Amino acid sequence: MIDYDLLSTIKLESGVNPAPFDCGDADLNAFLVEDAMNYYEDFMGVTYLLEYKQRTAAYYCLFMDKIVFDFSGKDDPKRQWWKLFNKKNKIHFNKQRKGYPALKIGRLAVDDEFKGCGIGSYILKVVISMMTVARDLGCRFITVDAYKEAFAFYLKNGFEFLSSEDETDNTRLMYYDLKRIPQ
Ligand SMILES: CC(C)(COP(=O)(O)OP(=O)(O)OC[C@H]1O[C@@H](n2cnc3c(N)ncnc32)[C@H](O)[C@@H]1OP(=O)(O)O)[C@@H](O)C(=O)NCCC(=O)NCCS
Repeated sequence: MIDYDLLSTIKLESGVNPAPFDCGDADLNAFLVEDAMNYYEDFMGVTYLLEYKQRTAAYYCLFMDKIVFDFSGKDDPKRQWWKLFNKKNKIHFNKQRKGYPALKIGRLAVDDEFKGCGIGSYILKVVISMMTVARDLGCRFITVDAYKEAFAFYLKNGFEFLSSEDETDNTRLMYYDLKRIPQ
């Protein structure tokens, strides 16, 4: 069990060093050590560490995104559009736009020793609640290119698949509609 009072979130910036971290995925482990700081310095992504008793229990990286549809004659983008904006999640435009603003969870990983304790879900709740600023900025969705192993995790946390085109892929685009947040 995690004592959430002891869990703190720290932005990865100059002078901040993550503790040794292993989530079981080599690319995600390497991103934290090799790329995260470069993303920050280049204004390309901001990484947050979840520190617990001097351990790095998890991290996530955020940057701006856009859900893009190509309406040049293909049927599937229209189906995707109607999935996004059905009666429940209306949008006040008659015209179908090509792009809709989003925040991307570019990376999200929990250290092996902390998996299954709810930290991943805690991060998603924090990111969703942080996006109340969507009312000030204009941002409709949260997106993630989810790994196959994590589909169930995102579905349990209210994310949905956008397209059936990627259903046999190992990574699928999933989204969360921020209009669901109570105003
Ligand atoms: C996927 C990951 C982020 C989940 O984090 P976590 O802290 O272990 O997840 P939680 O404890 O918050 O789990 C929330 C729910 O999702 C389920 N879940 C979590 N990981 C799951 C998985 N791999 N497969 C199926 N269900 C999973 C949990 O059983 C739990 O369900 P419950 O509420 O019914 O008990 C973590 O396992 C991880 O870092 N994996 C390796 C890297 C990765 O795949 N990152 C995602 C990249 S898109």
